[in-house]
Amino acid sequence: MTLIERLGMQVLFRMQPETAHDLSIKALASGLVPMPGGPVTSPRLRTRLAGLDLPNPVGLAAGYDKNARAVGALMRAGFGFIECGAATQRPQPGNAKPRLFRLEQDRAIINRFGFNNEGAEAIAARLAARPAGIPVGLNIGANKDSADRAEDFAQVVRVAGMAADFLTVNVSSPNTERLRDLQGAEALAALLRGVIAARDALPERRPVFLKIAPDLDDAGLADIAQVARTVGIDAIIATNTTLSREGLSDRQASEAGGMSGRPLFEKSTRVLARLYRMTGGHIPLIGVGGVGSVEDAWQKLRAGASAVQIYSALIYGGFSLAGEIARGLDQRAEQQGLTCLSELTGTGVDDWL
Ligand SMILES: Cc1cc2nc3c(=O)[nH]c(=O)nc-3n(C[C@H](O)[C@H](O)[C@H](O)COP(=O)(O)O)c2cc1C
Repeated sequence: MTLIERLGMQVLFRMQPETAHDLSIKALASGLVPMPGGPVTSPRLRTRLAGLDLPNPVGLAAGYDKNARAVGALMRAGFGFIECGAATQRPQPGNAKPRLFRLEQDRAIINRFGFNNEGAEAIAARLAARPAGIPVGLNIGANKDSADRAEDFAQVVRVAGMAADFLTVNVSSPNTERLRDLQGAEALAALLRGVIAARDALPERRPVFLKIAPDLDDAGLADIAQVARTVGIDAIIATNTTLSREGLSDRQASEAGGMSGRPLFEKSTRVLARLYRMTGGHIPLIGVGGVGSVEDAWQKLRAGASAVQIYSALIYGGFSLAGEIARGLDQRAEQQGLTCLSELTGTGVDDWL
């Protein structure tokens, strides 16, 4: 962590978590925060994922910059790719506050935001105006009061699809009632077919990713693997936040919402490995959940990921963590004689089954 980051974080940690979050976005958007200037990259780090060229495989997970307000600055933070959103078809306020909790003792976060966002149109306009650089994706959710949620997803693809480099179907947030029911085989196949039809009608192709929950059992995971292959999903992101409270000791552990950060690492990595086994390596996987160090990212790759994403650890470790992890992966790959990090993907899957 840089000195400026350390000072900034001390100030932010004295505030309510959501106030601190909003202020950090404003500071980034205004250009007040010095950024390293570009992605960390090397021939070993360069990753081709679902047709996208990533300078390194360390990405920013969805939910930090929901409205794409700080995308220009975030593109210069060292990440190899970033994901904005979730965007819903219409703007919505999300759940009542407080809805974001720092469990400092556990290095975890609980959130129950409920897809607060400015709507697909406003977000697409900002994404379209971003500078050139690393791939930027858009995470898509459904409006809480929507009568036809599957149609909501397709509509966001129509409105915002061309403004992003990839589109993520998020049926795994625990904070919109019954959203995760869309992970069931039949509902999921219908939803994804609608999304892919909307994508196919865009003037240019955009890869469609699917983001899943860590709380699925083997039968649920197998259904998803099967549907994803049948409909032609380009990559699966594993995982979103969990409803489990395992491994927590902080007094705020009983707050409702999705839990992320260090205590999610093992659970999400096991889901990733099971999914890698089920998809036979045919669909690229992005490993998310509790990544906070080079070792964590390395383990996600060994368990089957082609790339990783981070969110909660940035709240505790600052944005310089992205570049630190990418550089650390590069060094380790060199020490182990790898010509490319992709050679690591899935080599340790059995350790996580
Ligand atoms: C405050 C907060 C908001 C989030 N919002 C979204 C979201 O809108 N869409 C989504 O797919 N995931 C969202 N996530 C989940 C993250 O993208 C990620 O999957 C999860 O936090 C696990 O990674 P981590 O342990 O590195 O945080 C959110 C996470 C947090 C902490």
